[in-house]
Amino acid sequence: MLLVTGCAGFIGSNFVLHWLAEGGGTIVGLDALTYAGNLASLSSVIDDPRFTFVRGDIGDSTLVDELLARYKPSAIAHFAAESQVDRSIHGPQDFIQTNIVGTFRLLEAARGYWSGLPTPEQPAFRFLQVSTDEVYGSLGPDDPPFAETRAYEPNSPYSASKAASDHLVRAYHHTYGLPTLTTNCSNNYGPLQFPEKLIPLVIHNALAGKPLPMYGDGLNVRDWLFVNDHCRAIACVLEAGRVGETYNIGGSAERRNLDVVHRICDVLDAERPRSDGKSYRTQITFVADRPGHDRRYAIDSRKIQGELSWAPRESFESGLRTTVRWYLANEEWVRGVTSGEYRSWIDTNYARRSGVPA
Ligand code: NAD
Ligand code: DAU
Repeated sequence: MLLVTGCAGFIGSNFVLHWLAEGGGTIVGLDALTYAGNLASLSSVIDDPRFTFVRGDIGDSTLVDELLARYKPSAIAHFAAESQVDRSIHGPQDFIQTNIVGTFRLLEAARGYWSGLPTPEQPAFRFLQVSTDEVYGSLGPDDPPFAETRAYEPNSPYSASKAASDHLVRAYHHTYGLPTLTTNCSNNYGPLQFPEKLIPLVIHNALAGKPLPMYGDGLNVRDWLFVNDHCRAIACVLEAGRVGETYNIGGSAERRNLDVVHRICDVLDAERPRSDGKSYRTQITFVADRPGHDRRYAIDSRKIQGELSWAPRESFESGLRTTVRWYLANEEWVRGVTSGEYRSWIDTNYARRSGVPA
């Protein structure tokens, strides 16, 4: 039995689907269903007897204590977070509340539950913190990729809040002996991602005939990881990761944002050509940069590759094609998540960025 927080978000829902498809055992999923959480993403397993969904906040200690006592999980996979960098710049409060205070309360509940477990179960328990490469800050063009030994240098309220939660997880292991694991992962993409992040936003805007917003010069670099590869990595770490350790997970696919967007346009041009015969590339629009925009992320995954024999299976090109096709085939899912709150966020984020068509 696993307790999965943030199970209705992008990576959490992919993880639940992956875990159940692989016969991994029962799950109780906890999610507050913020704007980023969508039960529709779990529709294929919502009636599965191996899956129980609970709507609630990770910071609700009474609820989490009850869930732990009732379901007796052998591990907690902690995905729940506020996760969008631009939102953290507009309003950091929710990021502090969920990512720091929420993780602290979850750790306290986990510690109370774990310390009361009988001897054989206590050392087998795991608390897995799903974190990000953004805690390491920004790389120069020739810097080596982020290894687990790299010092934390978070630059946005989002990454600072994730860094704070990682430090709490570390302290709970060091001080109380809670058997923790931490993973720091690069940019995920794939099915079921909310269209506020670059790849699904560009697919969505392209099909809607809207501008494809490129922040700054479009030359910032991210290391892209197909979400299923991330889910396999989390499963490996849960199963065989060394307690107290951190594992960096990346896709070995560094790409400049502009190249990513060009590639999406090329796939769409082939799969769903525009009625006027022009390329979707003509919709690319350079807009004002993100304040404090990290220039480059890259991950050194040698530790997880060597210790746990994990490696990404999906190339960026095949993963992106699969992703674009998924969005083309699931327009109803997209419609369901892009109503009300989505529209007001898009107005807030892009209205102030005057755009010049590329
Ligand atoms: P997401 O924003 O798509 O989903 C977050 C989920 O958490 C949502 O379902 C939301 O409803 C839920 N949630 C938010 N606050 C909550 C609260 N207080 N209590 C309970 N549930 C709450 O995020 P994601 O992209 O799936 O990211 C999942 C985790 O992975 C996050 O911790 C994020 O920091 C980390 N991460 C993401 C990426 C990425 O590229 N998306 C990369 C590295 C690490
Ligand atoms: O690196 C891991 C992180 O990746 C995760 O921890 C975060 O949760 C996740 O949101 C993601 O952060 P980024 O800021 O890198 O992702 P985003 O998709 O928002 O942006 C990717 C790049 O594209 C970044 O350089 C900013 C740029 N961008 C983004 C948007 C939304 C644009 O140029 N235009 C846009 O409209």
